[in-house]
Amino acid sequence: MRVAVITGANRGIGNHWTVKLLQEGWIVYAGYKQNMGGLEVIEDENLIPLQLDVTDTKSIEGFVKNISGDVDLLINNAGVPDGRWRSLTEIDDDWALEVLNINSLGPVRMVKALHHKMTNSKLTKVVMISSLMGSIDDCEMGKSYAYRASKTALNMFTVAMKKECLEDNISFIIFHPGWVKTRMGGDRAPVEIEDSVDGMMKVLENHTIHDSGVFIQYDGQEINW
Ligand SMILES: NC(=O)c1ccc[n+]([C@@H]2O[C@H](COP(=O)([O-])OP(=O)(O)OC[C@H]3O[C@@H](n4cnc5c(N)ncnc54)[C@H](OP(=O)(O)O)[C@@H]3O)[C@@H](O)[C@H]2O)c1
Repeated sequence: MRVAVITGANRGIGNHWTVKLLQEGWIVYAGYKQNMGGLEVIEDENLIPLQLDVTDTKSIEGFVKNISGDVDLLINNAGVPDGRWRSLTEIDDDWALEVLNINSLGPVRMVKALHHKMTNSKLTKVVMISSLMGSIDDCEMGKSYAYRASKTALNMFTVAMKKECLEDNISFIIFHPGWVKTRMGGDRAPVEIEDSVDGMMKVLENHTIHDSGVFIQYDGQEINW
């Protein structure tokens, strides 16, 4: 059976990825930081919910120890929004560093910790849930300083890791999930969670190692850096 790992699986986009992959017969190791949230109501013997804080190496080690065998898919989904800073003078350094810690370094920590479970003869796919807000080309409105920078950094970490991982048969896909109705996206968001995840799953199915490092939207449209 195919094995997936998902971070931030207790709500939002990560929770729906969990539901969909279980429906397709995957074994899912689903990380939750504090509360099981939406994982609590899923009844499926292939669901393994485990505590996971992507900023905490001890928590990551404990999570990885519980995984038996190799991993076929890692979905780095956990993320946090910006502070509500109205101008650059209001940027809070501590919170800005925490946003970078969670959104940029969290996914890198997960790849490092799971690398020994991904170097196998089968192709392993690593999904980075990034954002259009990480696109420098698209940054006309400005603001959302730390969130934008965190996703741009995530994109560069991913492209920088890509070459090294080709020989290990690990392929990366960097997604913009759309502006999605979640706690982060808010009620005005035009994209339903189901449509976002269904779209990403379709793109992921057709993804090959030759596409590694692509920056792409949930509907298959490529995004400028
Ligand atoms: N919604 C959108 O419109 C949109 C657009 C572009 C990109 N994205 C990206 O999509 C991803 C999912 O967002 P969402 O909209 O589903 O947001 P969400 O509903 O706010 O969910 C965020 C998830 O991340 C988890 N998380 C936060 N910090 C964590 C940590 N240190 N360790 C482990 N988990 C942590 C949260 O756990 P807790 O419940 O414990 O806080 C929660 O499960 C994020 O990376 C986000 O940047 C979203």
